[in-house]
Amino acid sequence: MATSKEHWEHVYESTPDAERSWARKDLKDSLNAIDRVAPRIPCAIIDVGGGVGDDSITSHVAFDDGAGYILDISAAALGINSEERNQWISIMGVNTSFCVGDVLTAPLPQVEVWHDRATMHFLTDIKDRRRYIERAADHIVPGGGIIVSGFSTEGPTHCSGLEVLRRSPSELTAEFSEYFDVIDAYEADHITPTGAVQRFAWYLGRRK
Ligand SMILES: C[S@@+](CC[C@H](N)C(=O)[O-])C[C@H]1O[C@@H](n2cnc3c(N)ncnc32)[C@H](O)[C@@H]1O
Repeated sequence: MATSKEHWEHVYESTPDAERSWARKDLKDSLNAIDRVAPRIPCAIIDVGGGVGDDSITSHVAFDDGAGYILDISAAALGINSEERNQWISIMGVNTSFCVGDVLTAPLPQVEVWHDRATMHFLTDIKDRRRYIERAADHIVPGGGIIVSGFSTEGPTHCSGLEVLRRSPSELTAEFSEYFDVIDAYEADHITPTGAVQRFAWYLGRRK
């Protein structure tokens, strides 16, 4: 496993939502990217390493009858009290299901859109990155879209105290090119709650 569950449970239990470095004021960047890659909206969508929050990406774009999926290695991140790992849990009246699990091993649904902001960059081992890409390719329908963003080559070397693998937009494009056609790849700044600037690379692709 590339990152430890214990690390993330501790982070979510000990730091208020608004103080985490990846916290953002709104979901605009992700929702704009989803508009560009989704074959249709509403759609079946997974948010990988989706974390917690009152406002989830899936609640904006998933079907009402529940085709939104949030996967996270931490139960605290998802705001659920579950020791169950690798099981998708539906909550009545919510259009999203939740699963506590590792993106490299958890059961995954078939989706039209895969969204990952700041999770793949923790996969510093090339074999894990390869597995991640193959799993994404296996679970996105042909014509479906993928969005992956993480620290760019000018971004920080660590996130939440863990080492990350920084990638430029063109490096991400090359990594995904076997299974995905690039729609766009670009850099954008994220301003942390303490005012630090973090350079992100965004990759938007279409499953071949
Ligand atoms: C930096 S946070 C980003 C959270 C959210 N995507 C966002 O942009 O606000 C990284 C998230 O990925 C989760 N995570 C880390 N490694 C993971 C893995 N191998 N599988 C699934 N989730 C993971 C963490 O628990 C955390 O919620």
